[in-house]
Amino acid sequence: MIPKIDHIGIAVESIAAARGFYEELGLAVAEVEEVPQEGVRVAIVPCGESKIELLEATSADSPIARFLEKRGPGIHHVCLATTDLGATDAALRAAGYRVLRDEPTRGAGGCWVQFVHPASTGGVLVELSQPGDPGT
Ligand code: CO
Repeated sequence: MIPKIDHIGIAVESIAAARGFYEELGLAVAEVEEVPQEGVRVAIVPCGESKIELLEATSADSPIARFLEKRGPGIHHVCLATTDLGATDAALRAAGYRVLRDEPTRGAGGCWVQFVHPASTGGVLVELSQPGDPGT
């Protein structure tokens, strides 16, 4: 089941420069987290039941660095919360959708995540996310 949009990921050149707009609106950066395996720093801006993630590259070969090079700053992905990522992942594969990872991996906040290629979704990189097991 997909209960909500978990977050919208926005590629930015600089979190320090980009956060001001959201703070002007009365939103606040709740935490900044590094995800070294992705070469990214993530600023999480809660917004009601959902979040905005500001994504800044921490290495020149990170997916965010490549995205910024090709497309410039802007919406990078939409993340849908899912209650059973394993089953959703399997169903998408079986139906021929192109997922980016061999299996769900750990993302920001300890969530399990999988990505679906824009070529399979009508042009949007879709992240599917399920909270990690408590205590892991
Ligand atoms: Co995300």
